[in-house]
Amino acid sequence: MNSSTKQKLDIQKAESSRIGQVDFNNLTFGSTFSDHMFECDYKDGEWQNPTIKPYGPLTISPGAKVFHYGQAVFEGMKAYKDDDGKVWLFRPEENFNRINKSSKRMAIPEFPKDIFFEALTELVKIDKEWVKKGLGNSLYIRPFVMATQVGVSASPSTEYKFMILMSPAQAYYTGDVKVEIAEHYSRSANGGVGAAKAAGNYGAQFFPTNLAREKGFQQVIWTDASKHEYLEEAGTMNVFFRVNDTLLTAPISDRILDGVTRKSVIALAKRDNITVEERPVSVSEIVEAAKNGNLKEIFGAGTAAVISPVSAFSYHDTVYDLEHQDNGFAMRFKKELMDIQHNRSEDPFGWRYEVL
Ligand code: COI
Repeated sequence: MNSSTKQKLDIQKAESSRIGQVDFNNLTFGSTFSDHMFECDYKDGEWQNPTIKPYGPLTISPGAKVFHYGQAVFEGMKAYKDDDGKVWLFRPEENFNRINKSSKRMAIPEFPKDIFFEALTELVKIDKEWVKKGLGNSLYIRPFVMATQVGVSASPSTEYKFMILMSPAQAYYTGDVKVEIAEHYSRSANGGVGAAKAAGNYGAQFFPTNLAREKGFQQVIWTDASKHEYLEEAGTMNVFFRVNDTLLTAPISDRILDGVTRKSVIALAKRDNITVEERPVSVSEIVEAAKNGNLKEIFGAGTAAVISPVSAFSYHDTVYDLEHQDNGFAMRFKKELMDIQHNRSEDPFGWRYEVL
């Protein structure tokens, strides 16, 4: 891996803030950005010129490889403000490790840890007014890397741009979602990029998700690419099934994202002596459990949505409804996670990371 450049972080502040123009009670997820962003270029074999600057457009050649081959990866993380005005991140080291793991899979050079953490914490400090208090409010943080070398030869870029943007957020999905179990399209395959947060991995979901939407389902539950027999992820999230009082979720593999919310839910469940089975979960056992009344809950788990309960799923054109559980596992883990994230409860696992 390239070593840290030990270069000084250049900070260029915006002349004025746009925060007064933002209605924080009516945010569309990921469409409003804070005053500043971070940018760092990879050239001549090293990351250089780490800079925080006012948020704004980039000038990039249309010949840059990212536009032709999608050589790009990203992360999703959040900053939270507690009732005393302190700002926290949640398990940021996990996101740092994962973006480098995703980069490796996409032949992108890894990013140095010291620059990542200095840039991230400085950026959050500079734009701290953009983190609003209150459960459900957060500043969604989007680190990403893209290939900027000009040239359409199909080979890894020699130049990259690493950036961090920040966007004030409220809930990602509002209400319970209806999902369709994938029977034709696939999200990932053995040996593919499913475990990476590669940009194209998400773009490839848009078309099948649109087809599901036309039928009245907001998301797709992805199944294994070979036979569509096993349940793997839900939309952009990991997925959990509660059968009676046992929690089931697919094991991490090269098809499945090692989600930070996923592993946090598993840790909370195990702490509370809930049986968790990380194993292939078949469509047939979940359909069977739905028919005989043992399927109590399905929920997605991800950074953007935290926990997203599923109200119905469709398989072979039959819709199976799930009763909303105010006191179920989904709502309980969501509250426990949000309380930790917002510094409203103890942090027994040491997940909170204080920024200021
Ligand atoms: C996240 O939960 O961070 C995601 O990856 C969702 C994102 C695609 C909006």
